[in-house]
Amino acid sequence: MHDLVVREPSPRERRLFSPYLETARCVLEPPRMSDAHAVLAGWARDEEATRYLLWSPHTGMDVTLLVLAQMAHAWTEEAPSRPWVIRVRGDHKPIGMIAAEVEQHRVQLGYVLARSAWGQGYMTEIVSELTTRALEAGFARVEGLVHPENRGSLRVLEKAGFALEGRLRRYHVFPTLGSEPCDTLILSRCA
Ligand SMILES: CC(C)(COP(=O)(O)OP(=O)(O)OC[C@H]1O[C@@H](n2cnc3c(N)ncnc32)[C@H](O)[C@@H]1OP(=O)(O)O)[C@@H](O)C(=O)NCCC(=O)NCCS
Repeated sequence: MHDLVVREPSPRERRLFSPYLETARCVLEPPRMSDAHAVLAGWARDEEATRYLLWSPHTGMDVTLLVLAQMAHAWTEEAPSRPWVIRVRGDHKPIGMIAAEVEQHRVQLGYVLARSAWGQGYMTEIVSELTTRALEAGFARVEGLVHPENRGSLRVLEKAGFALEGRLRRYHVFPTLGSEPCDTLILSRCA
């Protein structure tokens, strides 16, 4: 019988993975089960918001509750991924989510906003803040993987100082687009 080995987070992970973060206009917090209605109605069942994501639109509240429970659980152990909901300061209703996944010295970001919050610079603000924070905390690299036609996300990363590194051929399946693996662009900002 083997003992369960729980990986201790490094000091840089502890600094990046503060459960409560602030940007100029937003706060980032661990998701709560009470966010479920806003998550489902805001973006999780929206085929346009999820078009270039790696998961299918939620088919109902049962899926959203399950996903939120998994996300809440990620904060209870030393998991390599941390999901935050995004709220505009002073407004309780979440407008989106962002997750940071750590692999050794690298951090990969994934994010989505409700369509009602698009085009106001929120994601550029949040990605810029999290990336700066990660690099200052000692990570060497923050990366994003993006469908080549996802011009909004590519622009967010470009505005946050990321550089295009290449095209990973037939790399990700984007379930809303079908079952065929698609080429995926990789961008990064490095220390
Ligand atoms: C991608 C996404 C997070 C952008 O968030 P946002 O807060 O609206 O982005 P910002 O307002 O910070 O900036 C977006 C920039 O891209 C541009 N942009 C946004 N959507 C665009 C589109 N469809 N085509 C071209 N440019 C677009 C904006 O004009 C802006 O650039 P500008 O300041 O030069 O005008 C949001 O559209 C979204 O949630 N999309 C669905 C989920 C998704 O694709 N996530 C990323 C997976 S890799």
